[in-house]
Amino acid sequence: MAEHIGIVGAGYVGLTSAACFARLGYQVTCVDTDESKVDALGRGEVPIAEPGLPELVAQGLADGTLVFTTAQAELHGTDVVFLCLPTPPDGEGRPDLGVLEQVLPQLGRILRPGCVLVTKSTVPVGTAARVPRLLGRGDLPVVSNPEFLREGHSVEDFLHPDRVVIGTDPPAAPSAHRVEKLYEPTGAPVVRTDTASAELAKYASNAFLAVKLSYVNVLAELCERFGADVGEVARTMGLDARIGPEFLVPGPGWGGSCLPKDTSALLHAADAAGVDFGILRDAVRVNARQRARAVRTVREAVTGSPSGSLAGTRIGLLGLAFKAGTGDLRDSPALAIAIALARHGAELTAHDPAVEAVPELDAVQVVDDPYLVAKDAAALVVLTEWPEFRDLDWARLAAATARPVVVDTRNLLHPEMLANAGFTHFGVGRPHPEATPFG
Ligand code: UGA
Repeated sequence: MAEHIGIVGAGYVGLTSAACFARLGYQVTCVDTDESKVDALGRGEVPIAEPGLPELVAQGLADGTLVFTTAQAELHGTDVVFLCLPTPPDGEGRPDLGVLEQVLPQLGRILRPGCVLVTKSTVPVGTAARVPRLLGRGDLPVVSNPEFLREGHSVEDFLHPDRVVIGTDPPAAPSAHRVEKLYEPTGAPVVRTDTASAELAKYASNAFLAVKLSYVNVLAELCERFGADVGEVARTMGLDARIGPEFLVPGPGWGGSCLPKDTSALLHAADAAGVDFGILRDAVRVNARQRARAVRTVREAVTGSPSGSLAGTRIGLLGLAFKAGTGDLRDSPALAIAIALARHGAELTAHDPAVEAVPELDAVQVVDDPYLVAKDAAALVVLTEWPEFRDLDWARLAAATARPVVVDTRNLLHPEMLANAGFTHFGVGRPHPEATPFG
């Protein structure tokens, strides 16, 4: 008989896993302590914007293969339980395992013998080894199965993963085989390993992406000095199969709920282990500089000087989310840049297709019409790479501005298109115009 799966936590990892396992044909019970969230999910209302997820949840509810509950005791009937609990950074950037430490003793009293316990959300190296002690029993096999889901693509990433990582001690434990079988319908390559390697592999992947992005962001700075075009440099690099074309687009810095948190956690872990992970520390430092660089470019574009005053200047922002395809503002470079511009006295109007308001930032007026951001603006700043921004009527936007200037921190827009629409254009990693018309 197919395994009955339990999921603890209905955040974006837990909910995606629950809905996708139901789609793969398993019976799934998803537990969360948030009563209103569980009620809403039971009605098919999905609180996060993930393409395909509402459909999978609706299907699972209709088939009866997907059940949401606040009653942890219902996990007693399950065969494999996935922990999808938050591990947010504490004040110093170390992962806070408080929720996990609270839930595991409760599960220890509920789960039946033979049940496999799987850690799925990102946890520090060594956590799986600590689980039996936290559970208060040593008879349940523990598996580390880190997630690699991108926000905005989580369903696609779950059903068609690049790889599935399964860590057990020892790697050949029968529980590894049981968890591996669950993913068989995806056809993905499986890495069977020990728990510490599985846990580290997750941090290593996110940290590597962060280093790659900071690398290309510094290259962009160099290109501006040398009169080179970072798009051409990255295209050349990306054609080398050893490098690959992904994550080579420069931007205002990397953000979101994962890369900043995981780089910080790995740096703390390396420090504690006495290992100098200088290259990662530099990637984090470069990332802060990249945000500051974007602010300086806006000041230069508007005043002719990277330190010019923005006091009383109207600036229109296109994008607030940390990347396209999501309304997530957590550690968003776009938001950080907006806050910095507001501190310099700019009056900001912003549009983001997935953001209705930014309650914590009353200096930004959020509008649902992208053309309103251009009204009397001294510059338009593209901060998030929403593809629909390309399809705006840029001549109409130019006509609405006080000064037709675009700072494109994502290199989203075609320079020729902008020139034809009448804009002076500042990109990333491309030579800046020799002088702004307003300097
Ligand atoms: C990241 C990883 O990509 C997932 O594999 C991982 O599972 C997830 O974290 C997690 O740990 O849960 P995500 O946070 O959704 O996923 O964000 P990414 O798509 O990785 O983007 C990160 C940042 O890099 C964004 O700010 C994005 O705008 C930026 N970026 C990305 C660039 O500036 N240029 C690029 O070429 C690509």
